[in-house]
Amino acid sequence: MDIQKVITSRRNIKKFKSDKMDQDLLKSWLQAASMAPNHKMTEPWEVLFVGPETRAKLNHKTDFGNAPVVLAILSKHGSSDLERNENMAAVSCFIQNFMLLAWASGVGTFWSSLGISDKARNTLHVPDDYDVVGILGVGFPEEVPAAKERTPIDRKIKHLS
Ligand SMILES: Cc1cc2nc3c(=O)[nH]c(=O)nc-3n(C[C@H](O)[C@H](O)[C@H](O)COP(=O)(O)O)c2cc1C
Repeated sequence: MDIQKVITSRRNIKKFKSDKMDQDLLKSWLQAASMAPNHKMTEPWEVLFVGPETRAKLNHKTDFGNAPVVLAILSKHGSSDLERNENMAAVSCFIQNFMLLAWASGVGTFWSSLGISDKARNTLHVPDDYDVVGILGVGFPEEVPAAKERTPIDRKIKHLS
């Protein structure tokens, strides 16, 4: 798949097959994802591989679509509100890199915002100076949803003098 096809065909996957994931492959995608743009090279991302006990405690409504792997992706705050925002932007790029690398190999991802809740943060033992940007289910898709159409980009573009 060329990169345009990878980007436009990726979907938020809600139902996964039980097939195991290759850990080395996952790590290679995480390593490559860390080439995300990152102001001041703070490398704010941290990745938690969520094991079965912790996952059960998270009590997600669909158990992340029964994904074989669940990752929590954290962003370290930094020394100011600006740096915190920029770090979260960098971690979002990191996540997108990871999702696209996975998708290019036929592996789907489900992005859940469950990690925003205090209960989930406590369950994951997230320190106070970290944001949980997303909790990702990762695995081979059982179903691939139809595309959610996007607004034609011309309606989002303004030309300034
Ligand atoms: C910050 C963020 C949080 C999200 N949280 C959730 C979530 O809690 N549950 C969910 O079903 N999808 C969540 N999503 C995925 C979006 O719902 C999904 O990307 C959107 O519906 C578009 O679908 P697509 O990714 O298949 O194009 C989240 C996406 C982002 C960027």
